[in-house]
Amino acid sequence: EKGGYDYFMLKEIAEQPKAVADTLLGRIDAEGRLRLDEVRIPDAVLREADKVVIIACGTAFHSGLIAKYAIEHWTRIPCEVELASEFRYRDPILGQRTLVIAISQSGETMDTLMALRHAREQGAKVLAICNTNGSTIPRESDAVLYTHAGPEVAVASTKAFLTQLVACYLVALYLGQVRGTKWGDEIHAVIRELARSADDVERVLETMEPVRALARSLAHKNTVLFLGRHVGYPVALEGALKLKELAYMHAEGFAAGELKHGPIALIEEDLPVVVVVPSPKGRSVLHDKIVSNIQEIRARGARTIVIAEEGDETVVPYADHLIRIPATPTLLQPLVSTVPLQVFACELATARGNEVDQPRNLAKSVTVE
Ligand code: M6R
Repeated sequence: EKGGYDYFMLKEIAEQPKAVADTLLGRIDAEGRLRLDEVRIPDAVLREADKVVIIACGTAFHSGLIAKYAIEHWTRIPCEVELASEFRYRDPILGQRTLVIAISQSGETMDTLMALRHAREQGAKVLAICNTNGSTIPRESDAVLYTHAGPEVAVASTKAFLTQLVACYLVALYLGQVRGTKWGDEIHAVIRELARSADDVERVLETMEPVRALARSLAHKNTVLFLGRHVGYPVALEGALKLKELAYMHAEGFAAGELKHGPIALIEEDLPVVVVVPSPKGRSVLHDKIVSNIQEIRARGARTIVIAEEGDETVVPYADHLIRIPATPTLLQPLVSTVPLQVFACELATARGNEVDQPRNLAKSVTVE
């Protein structure tokens, strides 16, 4: 049932191109416009929404953090993202024009379920993004957009995360399409790129051998840090979470701009630091800033592991290890930049002799608060 792989996680990492393609299937028409009729939230509701609130836990929360950048950029609707476990305990401001998006692979996470019940009691409309047909969260929501990752068995979420990203992009672009923002042309172009993204994920998977070798060489380390900016920041958080749960290592993700506000004090000789570099085009200001961050930490002894787009030569002199990803539109980069981090964590866990599919102390779905 592991299809020739040693672990379900390896199989699920490999299935990501198909999971991404399946989640897009039937949702983009021949003219390159989105069709989400199955979602069954009337367009009028989407047009009138004045706020989006995303609730989720763990890896699903990280997909929500990325969705915020996409939703605010393409729709200009303010978007908040909150850990489901914090949400209902702080009396959040919700109303009939609030669109709540609950993201969950299993559809059974108690924290997310309680948060969505609270939101509906306050009159908000809830859209679930979920991977499990007929599970509790979609049943209790007003509408659902299913991710088509297929069953995810490994405790560490991989293919479900990529499909959550796809679903979030679809919702963001659809909201933009329905509301007719000034980004019409860009939305159209991004839909075309999104339709091709499964191939990009495939290309990344084909180049992972050096990442595995690097992971094995770091098996004796105690700490790994992850840095990113913009959508690369939640990717850094996700890379750190994968490493904690699988390798049982101390790992932390930071927004690179925060370095000099504290975390740079952690940098010491030979400390591995993974840096997710934004696209050099379009967001060149951010790109230049992160290149200076890489120089700063390297000057203090860090061992830099740099994830950067193909063709980005500016990072080469400062990268002790360079991991290449295909060039994508800025907001879509997490679809490709996350994959090496999954492979990295999985290989480190194996090298440390850990049980990859069933990490200690964790359960696949967390049905208690
Ligand atoms: O089933 P859900 O998506 O609601 O689960 C949420 C988290 O428990 C889950 O993503 C968890 O963080 C994973 N083990 C991460 O790999």
